[in-house]
Amino acid sequence: MSKEYQPVHGVWTSRWVFVLAAAGSAVGLGNIWKFPYIAGDYGGGAFVLVYLICIALVGIPIMIAEIGLGRHGGLSPIHTMSKLVRDNEVSRKWTGVGFLGALSGFLLLTFYSVVAGWALYYVWEMGSGALDKASPEEVKAAFDGLLASPWVLLGWHTLFMVLTMGVVAHGVEKGLERAVRFLMPSLLVILLILLGYAINSGGFTQGLEFMFTFDFSALGAEGILAAMGQAFFTLSLGLGAIMAYGAYMPRQITTPGGETKHVSIGSTALIIAVLDTAVAMIAGLAIFPVVFANGLEPSQGPGLIFVTLPLAFGQMPLGLFFGTLFFLLVSFAALSSSISLGEPLVAWLVENEWSRRAAATLIGGTAWFIGIGTVLSFNVWSDATLGGNTFFDILEFTVSNIMLPLGGLLIAIFAGWIMKEPRIRKELAMQKFGVYMVWRALVRVVAPLAVLAVFVHTLWDTFGG
Ligand code: TRP
Repeated sequence: MSKEYQPVHGVWTSRWVFVLAAAGSAVGLGNIWKFPYIAGDYGGGAFVLVYLICIALVGIPIMIAEIGLGRHGGLSPIHTMSKLVRDNEVSRKWTGVGFLGALSGFLLLTFYSVVAGWALYYVWEMGSGALDKASPEEVKAAFDGLLASPWVLLGWHTLFMVLTMGVVAHGVEKGLERAVRFLMPSLLVILLILLGYAINSGGFTQGLEFMFTFDFSALGAEGILAAMGQAFFTLSLGLGAIMAYGAYMPRQITTPGGETKHVSIGSTALIIAVLDTAVAMIAGLAIFPVVFANGLEPSQGPGLIFVTLPLAFGQMPLGLFFGTLFFLLVSFAALSSSISLGEPLVAWLVENEWSRRAAATLIGGTAWFIGIGTVLSFNVWSDATLGGNTFFDILEFTVSNIMLPLGGLLIAIFAGWIMKEPRIRKELAMQKFGVYMVWRALVRVVAPLAVLAVFVHTLWDTFGG
């Protein structure tokens, strides 16, 4: 690939739009259902503490690296990596990082859209009053019924994919930027309304206790690994989504007063991580009180938001309204994440002289088609398993637990060891040399070792012993 590709996508109109877009990518299903329930599972406060440490020592340094590489290259992750390979005169094999990321993002999109479709379905289901005063059996039957109907799942998966690609097809400024400018503030408002509702639900103290009790005995080595994996997943690292967004980040901005200011990557990454973490915490504080106020068990996984919460909302005053709002929140969060899953590949095709519309149709259509495998995993193909795992289980595991950590590890190594040091230093342009040195130590040593530990543990758990 010796051709020189030119940046053709446009740039965010301000640094804050980049923050919104990257936070939009980070805040997703991972924050709203996964974080609260695994935090509770692994001892609440103890897990939260380890999770915060992982965000600080591994998540933020790798995010800085991803944004830095992206802005330096200015292209889609695949072309950014080939440009960096050329400029730094290193082995062409490193271009593989771009391809690996694009493939991971594409595969993640295929099933993310199916699960996000559940959230859309529940906006409808709660809004229509179908779950008003439903009994525990009825709520459970509604969720099981959804999973058992391939056509219903397919319909909502289709709608979600069309929404995602509709945004991506409109490009950086008219599509992505407009979407996140609307989605992110709405999301914050809905989240705060729900928090207020939870505070008044009667279960707030119990919810607080559940999330912030330092019970280290429930944590264990497994909890630490889970905290690390979650920190990584929730920040959307390892597949180039943040790299692609970084490519649209300006290096300098002109303030309203007419001064030019350098746009700092370090502090921007910090803000994104803080926002993402805050949303996860607030989601927990909005969800658990409602669960406890209704004397329910904080059950696990998908059940928590798709079974327990509709049950709780169905019993509460104004519950249908707030329940509908809640699923709207989940859908918005999922949409602002899925557009960043589609963007890297679409941008790559656009650089190869495709029209955005055609590229989005091709990528969306193919991801939609493969998503049918996930749809069928819950019903028609539920018995077609490998070692007890469905198509969806295997895909989800491979992407989240193998491909993303591998991508993150390679990105950290590339930024820390492979790329010429003055280049990355200049790109990041950190104000304080000490801060830069800390970043460099984290990205060269701490982050790779931590990711490697999780990675080896996962492989060992799956294929060893
Ligand atoms: N961060 C998203 C969430 O919390 C999920 C995710 C992981 C993601 N990696 C990504 C989203 C890459 C977009 C791009 O739900």
